[in-house]
Amino acid sequence: MYTKDQERNLIEKTKELLKLSVKDIKSKQQAKDIIEKLREVIRYHDWRYYVLSNPVISDYEYDRLFHLLKDLESKYPEFITPDSPTQRVASELTKEFPQVRHLTPMLSLDNSYNEDDLREFDRRIRELTGLKTVEYSVEPKFDGAGIALVYENDILVRGSTRGDGIVGEDITPNIKTIKTIPLSARFSDYGIRTIEIRGEVLMRKDLFKKLNEERLEEGLTPFANPRNAAAGSLRLQNPKEVAKRKLEAFVYQITYAVDSQNNNLLGTRIKTHYQAIEILHDLGFKTPFKEIKICRGIDEVIDYCREWESKRDAYPYEIDGMVIKVNDLSLHNILGFTSHHPRWAIAFKFKARQATTKILDVVFQVGRTGAVTPVAKLEPVEIGGVVVSSVSLINEDFIREKDIRIGDLVLVERAGDVIPYVVKVVKEARTGNEKPIEFPRNCPSCGSPLVKPPGEAVWRCININCPAQVVERIAYYASKDAMDIRGLGKSIVKRFYELGFLRKIPDIYRLPYDKIKHLEGWGEKSVENLKKAIEESKRRPIYRLITGLSIRYVGKVTAKKLAENIRCVEDLKDWSIENLERIPDIGYVVAHSIYEFFHNEENLKTIYELKELGVQTCKEEEKKKDIFHGKRFVFTGTLHCCSREVAQEIVEYLGGHASNSISRKTDYLVVGENPGSKLQKAQRLGVKTIGEGEFINMIKDYIPEELKEKINIEETEGKPDMPLFRGS
Ligand code: IVH
Repeated sequence: MYTKDQERNLIEKTKELLKLSVKDIKSKQQAKDIIEKLREVIRYHDWRYYVLSNPVISDYEYDRLFHLLKDLESKYPEFITPDSPTQRVASELTKEFPQVRHLTPMLSLDNSYNEDDLREFDRRIRELTGLKTVEYSVEPKFDGAGIALVYENDILVRGSTRGDGIVGEDITPNIKTIKTIPLSARFSDYGIRTIEIRGEVLMRKDLFKKLNEERLEEGLTPFANPRNAAAGSLRLQNPKEVAKRKLEAFVYQITYAVDSQNNNLLGTRIKTHYQAIEILHDLGFKTPFKEIKICRGIDEVIDYCREWESKRDAYPYEIDGMVIKVNDLSLHNILGFTSHHPRWAIAFKFKARQATTKILDVVFQVGRTGAVTPVAKLEPVEIGGVVVSSVSLINEDFIREKDIRIGDLVLVERAGDVIPYVVKVVKEARTGNEKPIEFPRNCPSCGSPLVKPPGEAVWRCININCPAQVVERIAYYASKDAMDIRGLGKSIVKRFYELGFLRKIPDIYRLPYDKIKHLEGWGEKSVENLKKAIEESKRRPIYRLITGLSIRYVGKVTAKKLAENIRCVEDLKDWSIENLERIPDIGYVVAHSIYEFFHNEENLKTIYELKELGVQTCKEEEKKKDIFHGKRFVFTGTLHCCSREVAQEIVEYLGGHASNSISRKTDYLVVGENPGSKLQKAQRLGVKTIGEGEFINMIKDYIPEELKEKINIEETEGKPDMPLFRGS
């Protein structure tokens, strides 16, 4: 995409531009000049950030560039172009999506499920082409929402959904919010005037999990899988909302490409599928460039498909198989299409992550905020290597919408490490003996009447002392997301509650250890461990304490935002709703909930009690921690949390040394995605290698304020510690 020299040049330009402000710009010509330079560098930084996940400037610097461009464009609107980076989010609401005819029909793929199917496909290809051995390119089959993009004279002019394959919906404003899709690209360098590209819009698995957690928290129905989340997001009416969903797009096929004389370039100037992917990669698109493999003959294809099936879970995106394509594009013209699929390609589908099973019973669980969740007990069934025996039915509306009954046969999906989900009821299998699900009107734990506030989908128990809620809240306080007290899981909290040891959160710090050690299953050692874990929790960062308080709508992400803006947790009692709303991403509903929480005497009492018991409620004064004293670190591969420079800065800050070359003296090699040769060298020298996740765990509680904005811990969550992907 960029040569080293070009990159150096763009970084130089960035530095110059960062020194400018609007008032330095005196003439129209100068403005035009600067605007063009800004666009050029912003495109480069978008590519580093979104495509490579390896930015070279901080978010703050990026925002400065972006705002300068925005300010100049509003001063000189005549210089606004449709491909300017500022034009990604349209301000207008899209009312409905107009229909558009695709340049070429969006067909499906033929499917195969085993080796025999693949051999049969290969036999047909050899027969039709007369070749002895066929060269195939093999790449993942992305499980998202299919799109078609059209670029004309280097500008993105249209993005559409598949629709019925002939006519799709024009969703250009939403497509433009996807940062991995360039708004302009130099196709003209390849002699291309008009091009149509196919791709898939996806939501990364970890972001999907987070989105669903938030939706549940807000009483909304979660999405079944990342595909539905991506497709649903693409069809939102407001592009601003779409932008928040952080969608990405992989492009995997050029389906139409002509020059200015309308000559077809596929199979002539662009000779192979691999070359097509290379061009798209080079122009800054996100493609399966690293994942793609050229295989000679079907045996190599089969091996590669098996290899990917085994590493499917570790891949950050949902894939449901591999796509095998004849590499030589001139053969595509010979092989042609059926009305359903191209004859030059086939999908190899992985084992399904769905299964049908019977609902044996439904129980109702009370959560820490009092929400009552129906949970179906299932006849145990294996899905993707895991035995599933229960599934959340989410809420009453979900049950009614899908008409779920006890005794029903249901189709259950478990995508990756996502919680299982009922996709549908197999109504054809009904015998007439199925029983409707009765939603309780009283709390199954304390018996008090349940309430359903207007506009919400969830029934709640509003008795704050309800035993089920109390146990859930204490267990959540101790959980990994909050205060991370190892050894104080839900079943132990429940037992201690029943024994009267734990009635409220502060009791955690007053546990009667002398009694506990005589309980069945406990002893000196286990009590010692629990005591140690509880002691350690007193010094957690304050966002963990805020999370652990179970304030409605305040999960880990919001807790972090709050923590950034306060010194002590108890200070929140003095914040007005208006002030809370000024914190980015905190809207009225969340602000109101926080306000209510900190205006409740009981809650404040809990916080002061915790403080008295030694729990840290204020941020520590910036104290330098020398945790890496004398340790030598080397990094290899792409990190997701931050740039390598930032990671090195943290190592140095914490008293260690960061170096670029590995030797026997190196203490740790931190391995990112697509590691280089340093990994082999480390293994040869016996140097300890750790993944990014482990590195983050070491540093996460010690990141100094000034580096916090440059490092994104969330980005590393859900990432495999040792990447399994092929090196570049
Ligand atoms: S090639 C003529 N490559 O799977 C172009 N499709 O189930 C044929 N898909 O409609 C498509 N990953 O939406 C191709 N690497 C990939 C793909 C892929 C996902 C989708 C695509 C297609 C569907 C068929």
